[in-house]
Amino acid sequence: MRMRRKKNLDTRLEKCAAFSVAEPSLNKGKWREAFGRETGELHLEIGCGKGDFVVQMAKRSPDVMFVAVEKYQNVLLLALEKVMAEGLSNVLFIDADANTLADVFDKDEVDRIYLNFSDPWPPKKRHKRRLTHENYLSVYDRFLKDGGEIHQKTDNTGLFEFSLCSYSQFGYTLYDVTFDLHSTDFDNVMTEYERNFTEQGMKIYRCVARKGKK
Ligand SMILES: C[S@@+](CC[C@H](N)C(=O)[O-])C[C@H]1O[C@@H](n2cnc3c(N)ncnc32)[C@H](O)[C@@H]1O
Repeated sequence: MRMRRKKNLDTRLEKCAAFSVAEPSLNKGKWREAFGRETGELHLEIGCGKGDFVVQMAKRSPDVMFVAVEKYQNVLLLALEKVMAEGLSNVLFIDADANTLADVFDKDEVDRIYLNFSDPWPPKKRHKRRLTHENYLSVYDRFLKDGGEIHQKTDNTGLFEFSLCSYSQFGYTLYDVTFDLHSTDFDNVMTEYERNFTEQGMKIYRCVARKGKK
């Protein structure tokens, strides 16, 4: 999700600085301290876009600490401004690429990862860029605790099938696989992309991949 550079980007980012972690690797192994908490689950959203999902989730689950990652500052800014407007104390943002996250989180530090409408990268030669490619799963595996979960939603059949195979080959167990999320009774929080695709009449796919023994 690239966007034209926002007006006054730097000034606006500065105003939201309390919600953005400038040097996230300094928090490695200390994320709960960064939230001023001793215990509680830590959930990570990778590719949070404009932040609708993480804001709603953080309001619903005040006991959970959320870290949201987005690689484009122009997009991240909109998410930061939403969290600041809501005054949420359980969300922090990182301006980073997913492939750097093993430098940011320690072994077993993360309880859950959300991958919502990740870029599908359709040509086969680009599959390595998919956030569910084994190269990325190897990165997440370094900080996802045993029994931790990856929750994925997408509208893209190719990406979904690829991801199901990728999780299985990686040794993760699949749960709650659906090819039509909105026809289930799952208590869903919609993302920006999900709202758009749903308005276009597209079906939403979802699965949970769990690390460790069944
Ligand atoms: C298609 S958008 C979906 C946004 C949002 N999750 C939603 O469902 O509305 C994918 C987002 O992931 C971000 N993204 C893609 N690859 C990434 C990566 N390797 N690291 C961090 N963010 C990434 C993009 O910049 C974009 O904002």
